[in-house]
Amino acid sequence: MLIINCKNYAEASGRRLSSMLRAAASAQRRFGVKVAVAPPPPLAASCARRGARVFAQHVDCAPAGGTTGRAVPEILRACGVSGSLVNHSENRARPADIECAVEKLRALGMVSVVCARTSAEALRMARMGPDYVAIEPPDLIGSGRAVSSERPELVEGAARAVASARTRSKLLCGAGIASAEDARRAAELGSSGVLVASGVVKAASPARAMSELAAALAR
Ligand code: G3P
Repeated sequence: MLIINCKNYAEASGRRLSSMLRAAASAQRRFGVKVAVAPPPPLAASCARRGARVFAQHVDCAPAGGTTGRAVPEILRACGVSGSLVNHSENRARPADIECAVEKLRALGMVSVVCARTSAEALRMARMGPDYVAIEPPDLIGSGRAVSSERPELVEGAARAVASARTRSKLLCGAGIASAEDARRAAELGSSGVLVASGVVKAASPARAMSELAAALAR
């Protein structure tokens, strides 16, 4: 699994975003690796209409109805969004809300990706049984230094923690991942894929960066 989190980067808009969506679909076809794009929130529905695998950056455990400003999973699904990040380091949630979001996403047949900062947190998240737990040390996010080379012990420890929960959860890792080598190392350390933002969104060629990452994960 390769997830491109566009955050609210200005680069993830217009023609550049369209080309990223095409590149994601093409990398998925060529390498047989699932590639999802999490666009800036207001653009999720229009991106999903173009046939891309689109994830939300966040969901609230809020029902449709009188819930002004909340990101409602049912409505996202109706717009074609097929999964969501939960508890990203830049948008943390309370444990009860995380659990509720995971259950709701599961009930709706949507993919859940719960972020964690430490191995202990990864274990707690894995016990909730999301599809993926993504380990992301905050200090390496956006740093250009890859978690898989800077903190290999963290990725390995998180992989062990997630496996020990004995749920369906698989591990992803993110923070500073940019190159094929970063992704390859992540896979060797027990990660089932990577979560990437700046390494793709701010790359000279996001399409090439995505294709190289997907190729590395396919090996
Ligand atoms: O969600 C992925 C993200 O937090 C990692 O950011 O820029 O280090 O790839 P970045």
